[in-house]
Amino acid sequence: MNIKKRILCVVGTRPEAIKMAPVIMALKTEPWAAVRVLATAQHRHMLDQVLNLFGVEPDVDLDIMRPNQALTTLTARLLLDMEDVIQSEKPDAVLAQGDTTTVMTVALACFYGRIPFGHVEAGLRSGDISNPFPEEMNRVVAGRLARWHFAPTENARQNLLREGVPQHSIYVTGNTVIDALQTVAAKHPEIDVALDPSKRLILVTAHRRENFGTPFREICRAIRAIADRNENIQVLYPVHPNPNVTRVAYDMLEGHPRISLCPPLDYLPFVGAMQRAYLILSDSGGVQEEAPALGKPVLVLRRETERPEAVETGVVKLVGPEFNNIVGETQRLLDDEQAYKQMARGVSPYGDGKAANRIVGILRQSLGGEVVADETVGVI
Ligand code: UD1
Ligand code: UDP
Repeated sequence: MNIKKRILCVVGTRPEAIKMAPVIMALKTEPWAAVRVLATAQHRHMLDQVLNLFGVEPDVDLDIMRPNQALTTLTARLLLDMEDVIQSEKPDAVLAQGDTTTVMTVALACFYGRIPFGHVEAGLRSGDISNPFPEEMNRVVAGRLARWHFAPTENARQNLLREGVPQHSIYVTGNTVIDALQTVAAKHPEIDVALDPSKRLILVTAHRRENFGTPFREICRAIRAIADRNENIQVLYPVHPNPNVTRVAYDMLEGHPRISLCPPLDYLPFVGAMQRAYLILSDSGGVQEEAPALGKPVLVLRRETERPEAVETGVVKLVGPEFNNIVGETQRLLDDEQAYKQMARGVSPYGDGKAANRIVGILRQSLGGEVVADETVGVI
C-alpha cells in the first residue's frame, strides 16, 4: 500500500500567501500529496484577503499577529507554536516562501524536528545582513537549512552556490508571483477607489523596517513635493497597516488634493491599480517583480535590492529613501517620454507563470512514488 505524503504549506503574511497560493493549488491536484495549510497569521486581515481570493482554507491557524509586534517576541511565539504543529501534523515535508519571520522560524523548527524543508523563492541576497532588515538574515537562515531550494532566477542559484549549497538541491523555477499575477490579471481587475481618469496615476507602497524614522519621513516629503509640483497627476497610496507606517503617512500626506490614502487594497484591485498606474514608487519586493511584467516602471525606495535582474534590464531603478532622488527621477519619468519608454518595456525577468508546476514536479520526483488508491495519510 502506498501512503500519501503529507505536505505542510505555511503562509504568514500577504506576500507569502500570494506566492504560495499557486503552489498550494497545484499540489492539491497531485494524487500522491495530502496538502495541509498552516496559517501562522503573522498578518491577519491582509493574509485573509489573499487566502479568500484564491479559495485557500487553512487547516491550522496560529493567529499570531499582535498590534505593533516586536521581532523577538514574534520569533519566540512562532517557534513555540511550530513545535506543537510539527508534532501534531507529522508532515513528510514543509514548504514556505520568502524571507519573513514566519519563514525563518519554520525552517528552524523543521531543522529541530528533522523534517525536510523546501524554500520557495530561495537564494535572494542583498549581501548586507542589515538590509533589508530583518529579511536578509531570515533568507540566510532558511537557505542554510533547506532541503529543496526553489530559486526564482539563475542569479539566485549562483548566490546559493557561492554559499556552498549543494548544486543538486537547487532548482531554478521562476517566481510563483508571476503565476499569481497572471491568474489575477486574467480576471480584468477593477480598482475600488475613485480615480480621476484625466490624471496620470502614481501608485505608492512602502513598509520596510529599515526605512522607519527619518528615511520614511523623507519618502513622504518627496511624495508631497511631487504632488505639489504636478497638477496632472494623482497619487494613490494604499498604506501598510504597520503603525510605524500608518502614523507617519497619514500625518504627512492626508488632506492633499492630489494624494489618495487608503487601507491596503485586496490583491485583485491592487493588480488593477498597477495596470492603471503610469509609474510606481515602492520598497516592496513583490511589486518589483510584478510591475516589470505589466510594463510599469518602478522607482525603488531603497538603497539596495536583492532583485537585481530588473535593475540590470533597466525597467526598475533604485532611488533610495532620498528626497532629491525620488523627486528628480519621478519628474524625469513624467517629463521625458524617451526615458519613460525605456523603462516601460514589459519584460518579466522573474518568471513565465509556470513556476508552481515546476516546483510540484520536483517534489513529485523526490516524494511522489506511485499514485495511491486510498485516502490514508500520515501512517509511517
Ligand atoms: C512583514 C515582514 C516583511 C514583509 C511584510 C509584507 C517580518 C519581520 N516582516 O512586515 O518581511 O515584507 O510583512 O507586508 O517578517 N498589521 C495589521 N494587519 C495586518 C498585517 C499587519 O494590523 O494584516 C500590523 C500589526 O500592527 C502588526 C504590524 O502591522 O504587528 C507589523 O506586522 P509584521 O508582520 O511584524 O511586519 P510587517 O511590517 O508587516
Ligand atoms: N499588494 C496588495 N495590496 C496592496 C499592496 C500590495 O495586494 O495594497 C500586493 C502586491 O501586488 C504584491 C504583494 O502585495 O504581490 C507585496 O506585498 P508587500 O509589499 O507587503 O511585501 P513584500 O513583497 O515587500 O515582502
